[in-house]
Amino acid sequence: MTQTPARRDVVSFVRRSTRMNASQQRNWEAHQARWVLPLAHRELSTSVAPGQPFDAEAIWGRTAPLWLEIGTGNGEACAAIAGRHPEVNYLGFEVFRPAVASALGLVAREGLTNVRFAEVDGVEALAHWIPADSVDRIFTFFPDPWHKARHHKRRLVNPATAALIASRLRPGGSWHLATDWPDYAEHMREVLDGRTDLVNVHLNGSAHRDVDPDGWAPRPEARPLTRFEQRGLAAGRVIRDLVYVRPAAGPAHA
Ligand SMILES: C[S@@+](CC[C@H](N)C(=O)[O-])C[C@H]1O[C@@H](n2cnc3c(N)ncnc32)[C@H](O)[C@@H]1O
Repeated sequence: MTQTPARRDVVSFVRRSTRMNASQQRNWEAHQARWVLPLAHRELSTSVAPGQPFDAEAIWGRTAPLWLEIGTGNGEACAAIAGRHPEVNYLGFEVFRPAVASALGLVAREGLTNVRFAEVDGVEALAHWIPADSVDRIFTFFPDPWHKARHHKRRLVNPATAALIASRLRPGGSWHLATDWPDYAEHMREVLDGRTDLVNVHLNGSAHRDVDPDGWAPRPEARPLTRFEQRGLAAGRVIRDLVYVRPAAGPAHA
């Protein structure tokens, strides 16, 4: 008998009211059937039942480079990046339905046929649905900072998630992160810089050409100024970007 993996007790999000405003409701009703994937869950609605095939042909009608975003929020970055890159299959994970509904409004307005959303915990999706060695890029922009020390375990960037993300990337695939919180930026560096399955491409001594001795990445041109980034800038915080690549000669994953 197949064992069901343990439920994730510590998650990176809070369960909020799923009440939608009128425009979100309209977007949801008009567009969810086309853009939101009907994944099966386990006991929690944000969980992902194992054993579902990940079939790009069935989802997008094509195989193409796969880009994932964890925590798409209102979809601003997703719509801008996927719009600039029609050649990729873009999949956004977001647990908060009203945010998915807002994002649907953007992708529908732009007619972005390369985007799909899954209304689930992105970590669950990576663990139980996305195959190993299959993803070209993963984006985590402005993840919830979880400021209190006793909540740090809820941060999306932690050693277990990093190992999972590295295992889902193809060799040469990359993970792009951004945060406006200095202590979270430092935490990301502490968790990620020492790994062998992910290499900070902007850190001096890395095997990659694009080297900045500081380790921070330049702001990607394709990322629009989202509400979270604007809020950070308005409060005088420095925005930090990071890019990690799975080394080409890295270990194969199960
Ligand atoms: C601070 S917001 C940032 C949203 C967006 N990336 C932006 O920059 O505008 C973080 C978002 O991540 C979502 N989130 C947090 N953990 C998640 C997870 N494990 N899977 C999917 N979504 C998640 C939250 O619901 C929230 O919408």
